[in-house]
Amino acid sequence: MTEHTNIPAIKGQNNLIAGAIASSADITRDRYISPDFMQLEADYVWAKVWNIGAWAAEIPGIGDYVVHQLGKDSILMVRQTDGGVKAFHNVCTHRGNRLVYGENGTTEKFACSYHGWQYELDGTLSYVQDADDFPLGNPCGVRNLAEIRCELWAGFVWYNMDVGCEPLDDFLGEVKEIFDRYDMDKMVRVGYQIAEIPCNWKSIHDNFCESYHLPTTHPELSEFFDDDYKNTIFELYDTGHNLMRMKGAVPSKRDDAPDHVNEPLAAELAEWGLDPADFEGRAGEARVELQAAKRALGPERKYDYFPKLLDEQLTDPFHCNLFPGTSITAQATVVGLQRAEPHPTDPNKCIYENWSMVAVGDGVVRVPNTPGDPRPVVEAERHEVIYGEASLGFIPDQDLRVASGQQLGFQSRGFEGAYLTGQESRVQQFHDRINECIRQGLAEES
Ligand code: FES
Ligand SMILES: [Fe+2]
Repeated sequence: MTEHTNIPAIKGQNNLIAGAIASSADITRDRYISPDFMQLEADYVWAKVWNIGAWAAEIPGIGDYVVHQLGKDSILMVRQTDGGVKAFHNVCTHRGNRLVYGENGTTEKFACSYHGWQYELDGTLSYVQDADDFPLGNPCGVRNLAEIRCELWAGFVWYNMDVGCEPLDDFLGEVKEIFDRYDMDKMVRVGYQIAEIPCNWKSIHDNFCESYHLPTTHPELSEFFDDDYKNTIFELYDTGHNLMRMKGAVPSKRDDAPDHVNEPLAAELAEWGLDPADFEGRAGEARVELQAAKRALGPERKYDYFPKLLDEQLTDPFHCNLFPGTSITAQATVVGLQRAEPHPTDPNKCIYENWSMVAVGDGVVRVPNTPGDPRPVVEAERHEVIYGEASLGFIPDQDLRVASGQQLGFQSRGFEGAYLTGQESRVQQFHDRINECIRQGLAEES
């Protein structure tokens, strides 16, 4: 683990393949617009890592299934009779028809719409027409669905298309212990939005990987977060994941009145039985007392996991970027997941998702910076959003606007490549990890 990794100034070069196989590569525009680079990522990054396929509560009963599209790959995840979940490539083994259309459902068997081959929930091929007419022998029990690795953790269904991959726990590394504390598998996903965005998936993940943009892109956050990088902890892990621990429940020194108890802070203090007036003129001291109040009141408000949280986790967002494209932000009782995944064919587009999970507690549910509060504590339906026609959340809207603007800039021959600050070292880590994956994949094939 390295903290505040210093990175050299990045000089621009148009070096797609050289960049793909060099360490600490330049972050050039071709990485965001090239179909060739997109294919390298598909083959050597996305097909080799653990990905989140679904929220496990989406498929609670035997035979419940959900389909996740990742680039050109379609993954089918199915609840088994023993309560576990299996994942398969969503393709019929006869002649390659897409097996399941639609996003989710419940079934006893999967029947292909072409020649009617039928598969059991565990992927076993159990029926074919004219079983005696196969020169190579009856395929039942033999040409089963192509199963891939699948595990459950933190309320998510994870899959990995690489059958020889490392265990999920090894992939997660330090992140597992940090997020195990929140009992996320007992949370309810109350928000689930998905949208196609006009930018490469990395533009969004780059944004997740730095807080340099907070004062300019999200000036509103200075009311409640200390957005000064010198007061923020950045942890870069050998797994390729990273973590940002920014102080919450404290106005930034950049705020117009950093000692004043502003409205968001006052609301948070009042919710936990503290009088905002007691902190007027010393707002920066409220955070520690708020931690103590949450520590004292949490269990009686049915936040049974609060004793496991660190003091900082009671007030501060723990913001984790999971390689390659997922960002999870935990704030004591609310966990947000945002992710960007590649478009099937166009490097200038991606698929963005915004999930909100809440601890049920005593029933008070608010999700910061998202529309729809107060909201019922029920599992949300999948909500497809046409980008630009509806909000994906106040803060995400701001980030997606700049990511889309970058995609326009990446078309410019005048852009020589990124020139990073030290506090953007997680962006460099992210791109270096992509390059490592591609380099390793190419080496294994040669
Ligand atoms: S392609 Fe599925 S049964 Fe023929
Ligand atoms: Fe942002």
